[in-house]
Amino acid sequence: MPLPADLHPDPGCWPDQLPQEWPASGLGDNRAPFFVPQFADGTEAADLRFAAAEVLPGKYSLLGLPAFWGGGETLKVTLTDPAGLTVYLYYGVFEDCDLITRAAVLENTGTKPLTLHGVPSAVVDFARKDLDFITFDGEWAAERTPHRAPLRPGVQSVGSVGGIPLHYHTPFAILCAPDAGEATGEAWGAALVYSGNYRVQAELNAAGVRLALGIEPYHFHWTLAPGERFTAPEAAFAYSAGGYGGLRRCFHNAIRRHLLRAPWRDMARPRPVLLNSWEACYFAFDEAKLLELAAAGKKAGADLFVVDDGWFKGRSDTTSSLGDWVADPAKLPGGIPGLCKKINALGMALGLWVEPEAVSPDSDLCRAHPDWALHIPGRETLAIRHQYTLDFSRADVRENIWQQLTAVLDSAPIRYLKWDMNRSLANVYSAALPTARQGEVYHRYVLGVYELQERLLARYPDLLLENCASGGARFDCGMLFYSPQIWTSDNTDARDRMLIQYGTSFLCPPCVMGAHISAVPNHITRRETSLAARAALALTGTFGYELDLTAFDEKTLSELAVWSAFYRAHGELLRGGDLYWLCPPDTEKRGAAWAIVTPDGSEAMVFAAGEVLDGRSLPLPFADTQADYTAPDHGQTFAGTALRTAGLPLPACEGDFPGFVLWLRKEETAKEKA
Ligand code: GLA
Repeated sequence: MPLPADLHPDPGCWPDQLPQEWPASGLGDNRAPFFVPQFADGTEAADLRFAAAEVLPGKYSLLGLPAFWGGGETLKVTLTDPAGLTVYLYYGVFEDCDLITRAAVLENTGTKPLTLHGVPSAVVDFARKDLDFITFDGEWAAERTPHRAPLRPGVQSVGSVGGIPLHYHTPFAILCAPDAGEATGEAWGAALVYSGNYRVQAELNAAGVRLALGIEPYHFHWTLAPGERFTAPEAAFAYSAGGYGGLRRCFHNAIRRHLLRAPWRDMARPRPVLLNSWEACYFAFDEAKLLELAAAGKKAGADLFVVDDGWFKGRSDTTSSLGDWVADPAKLPGGIPGLCKKINALGMALGLWVEPEAVSPDSDLCRAHPDWALHIPGRETLAIRHQYTLDFSRADVRENIWQQLTAVLDSAPIRYLKWDMNRSLANVYSAALPTARQGEVYHRYVLGVYELQERLLARYPDLLLENCASGGARFDCGMLFYSPQIWTSDNTDARDRMLIQYGTSFLCPPCVMGAHISAVPNHITRRETSLAARAALALTGTFGYELDLTAFDEKTLSELAVWSAFYRAHGELLRGGDLYWLCPPDTEKRGAAWAIVTPDGSEAMVFAAGEVLDGRSLPLPFADTQADYTAPDHGQTFAGTALRTAGLPLPACEGDFPGFVLWLRKEETAKEKA
C-alpha cells in the first residue's frame, strides 16, 4: 500500500538511498564510511561536487605505485569541495580484456593542513541486493580457498592489518548473481593493486550493495600540507555474464598483457625450468652438496639452479644473519662468483634467495643499526621467526640494502632472485618520522618495497624476480607489477595445491603461480601423490623442482627430464592459454579436472587429478564440433562433437592421488581444408 505523500521519504533528501561515485561521510550518506578526511577545523565531512571531466589519451600511471599499463584512454573526473579538497578520479579502459581500472588522487587545495584517515581506491554502488560475495581466504600452507555466501544486511569485509596482505585473505573479491557459476551468470570482480594493509568491504543496505576497497584505515593517517597530493592505490574491475570462468579470463588476459612487464610479459619468452634447493636440503648444504644437486637437476632438465635460504654469512638456521648479504665462506669458499662459475659450467644459470626487508637480532646489520628495525620506543620489539622487519619507509635503510644486493648481483651473472618476506609487520613506528606522522609508516613501508624492486628491475632488466612471503602471503596485483611470478604456497602437496591453485586462479593466470614438483611423502602433509599429479600441478604454474634429486637414479632423472622437455615444448600454450575448470575441486580435495586452451582453440592441455580418474568421460566445452582432435603423444583421434558432448574418456587409475595430462591438437576442419 502506498504511503501518504507527506510520510514518504523523498529520495532526493536521502543521500544514502542514492548511488554515489565517491561517497564521503558526514553529510547524509549513512552507509559505512571509508573516505574520512579531517580538515584543520576538526570537520570530518567532505562535500565533493562534480567540477570537470575529460578523456585523456593513453592510460594514466601512478607515481611510485604499481598499476596496469598500456590501456587505450583515461577518463579523469574532478570533484571539488570549497573547504579545500580536490579529488581527481581516474578511470583506465582496457577494451581488449574488458577491464576498468580506477585510482584517486587527493589534493589539499586549502590553506591549512588536512589529514586523511581513510581513502578508498574505489567505491561501486550496485542497485540490487541479491548478490553473493566470494572471498579467498586461508592460512599458511592453505592459501586462497574460495568462500561464497549471500550477502547479509550490514558490512562484510576481508583485509589485513599485518603490513602485507598475509595468508588469511586476498585483496580481491567477487560479487555475483545467486545463480552464477563456473560458466554462466553475472559476476563482478574487484582487485586491489596493492601489497600492504587493505580492506575489501561489501555492504548490503537499503539501497543495494556498496563495494569499497582500498588501504585499511587502521593506523592510516596521512597529512597533506596545502598543495600536497596523496595517490590511492589502483583498483581493477571486470565483469562477465559468463560466470567466474569468464571473469577469470578477463583478469588473466589483463594481468598477462597489462600488468606483467617486459621481458617476461611476452608469453613467447620461455621461463626457465627451475630447481630450488629449499626442500632439497634446507640449511644443510655446502658447495659440494649444491653442485651435486645442480648436476642432478641438469639431468632432470632444469635450466636454473636457485640457492634458497642459508647461503649467507653464518646462516645455519632461522635464528641469525638476515641483513648480512654476503656469502658464507664456510659454505661457499669461492663466494657467489665461485659458485656461479661452477653452476654455469654445468650449463645452468644461478639464482639466489634473499629476504631484504628482514633483519635478525643476531646480525652485523642489527648490531650496527639497532634503530633500523621497526620498533616502538620503550616497548619490547616482537621477533617473529626470530626476525625483525627493517624500516623500509626510510631511504637510508633501503640504500644500505640496495648497496648490499647490488654488490651480490654485480659479482656474478645471477639470473633470478627470490625476494622473500617471512613475517607480518608489528611494532609499526618509524624512528625517522615525527609523532604526528606515524600513521604514514605502513603505507610508506609498502612504497619503499616498491621503490627498491623498481630500482632492481631498472638496473637488471633481464633479472627474473619471484616474490614470496612465507609461501603466498603477498600474492597480489601489486607484486605482479614487479615480479612475473610469485611463490604460491609453501605447501607443494599436489592434492592441496590443486585447491590453492584453483582459488588463486580466480584472479591470476597459471604463468604467475610458482609451482614445483616436490618429494613424496610431502614434507608438510606427509601425503603420497603420484608424479603425474605433481607434474600436472607444476605445469599449471611456473614448473620446476624442489626436492633432493641426488637421491634419484638415472632412470628417475630421465623420467623427470621428459616432464621438463614437455613443459618447454608446450610453454607458450601453458603460459598464454585460457584456463577452464572442467570439474573444480571441492574443499575435500578429492579431485579435479581442468584445461588450458590456446586463445584460437588450436591446442589444449587437459589435466585431471584424484578421484575423477575413475574411467568417466569429461565433456570439453571448448571443443569445436566441426573439427577432429588428435592426442599426438598417444596416437589417438577424437571427434570434436564427441569431446564436447560425450566427453574425453579419462582412464581409471589406481593408487595414491593419480594424475593425468593430455595434449590435444585440433586438426584442420573440412571447411578450412577447402
Ligand atoms: C619461506 C619460503 C620458502 C623458503 C623459506 C626459506 O618460508 O616460503 O619457500 O624460501 O622461507 O627460509
